[in-house]
Amino acid sequence: MSLQEQLSAIVEEARQGAGVVADRAAMEAFKARFMGPRGTLTEAMKEMGKVPKEEKPAVGRQINEAKQSLLALFEELVGRIETAERTVRLGPPVDPSLPRIDDGAGTIHPIAQVREELVRVFRRIGFNVAEATEVETEFFCFDALNMPGDHPARDMQDSYYLPDVAHFDNVSKRESERYLLRTHTSTVQIRTLLREPPPVRIVAPGRCFRRDTPDATHSANFHQIEGLYVDEQVSLTDLKATLDHFVREVFGSKAKTRLRPSFFPFTEPSFEMDFYSPDLGKLSHRWLEIMGCGLVDPTVFEACGIDAGRFSGFAFGMGIERIAMILQGVDDIRYYYQNDRRFLRQFAG
Ligand code: PHE
Repeated sequence: MSLQEQLSAIVEEARQGAGVVADRAAMEAFKARFMGPRGTLTEAMKEMGKVPKEEKPAVGRQINEAKQSLLALFEELVGRIETAERTVRLGPPVDPSLPRIDDGAGTIHPIAQVREELVRVFRRIGFNVAEATEVETEFFCFDALNMPGDHPARDMQDSYYLPDVAHFDNVSKRESERYLLRTHTSTVQIRTLLREPPPVRIVAPGRCFRRDTPDATHSANFHQIEGLYVDEQVSLTDLKATLDHFVREVFGSKAKTRLRPSFFPFTEPSFEMDFYSPDLGKLSHRWLEIMGCGLVDPTVFEACGIDAGRFSGFAFGMGIERIAMILQGVDDIRYYYQNDRRFLRQFAG
């Protein structure tokens, strides 16, 4: 075989063998096979000595060409190996035409939006936010609110009672009592009055629970916001003025309120508050009932060790979902709990 044929065979062999070189170690071995101290090209170059002088320039050129071909091939291989390494580092391939998994920032839940708005309105007129636990004792949920064990109002607020073995370090309970999930935020009235002497001016937003069959307007899990104002000489006028202000802030400057006599064991007198607004879309120009309210019953003050001769106060409580449904034009309370983004995103701020 002439030297020229030998050189073409070496280049051909390298081209053929390149396909299986997969990583850097294989690459080094592959290179050595041709250009190492005992490599085929190295050996072929040693033949140079035997070549007659006049052929040397031509043969030299051929060797150089073979060498250049091999170097180009090695370079291509290194490129291929680097690409493979990068692909491993990057993970599986990505199809950029697919919809993205991260669908942007989340939004505040519509109920939370309304809760914050209601809290804002009351904070501006001097109410602080008070909170208490969702697990409660019968005392705070009922007894202290003038609803003893045999009181029929307890049936209307049937709840989820916890088994006797349940224990919560942060909710102290008397031996004879049961734990339950609070049925209203009026529990916060008692907890606040037992903790702070009047004057007290708080709103208490929070989650409540009742044993209810879910339908378009009922949910076993819902939210309320409670208000309580206790001081010397707090009167019905103060309640009415506060509620007037509240509906104007929330439902439009022309909104007005109406108090209808009602009954709650913990307020006397008690009322249902309706409001009316000409600026409420489909719900304009009609009276809508939205809360219970009244003057704090002296029995409640007694349960909290407050001098009912000296102090008086008003309290109110409303369902946040009810307000949200009116403001947001939602006709089924269940939408709020289904976590369907098509619903929730409509309220993105
Ligand atoms: N707690 C009452 C309810 O859930 C509402 C209310 C609160 C009524 C405060 C009067 C005063 O129905």
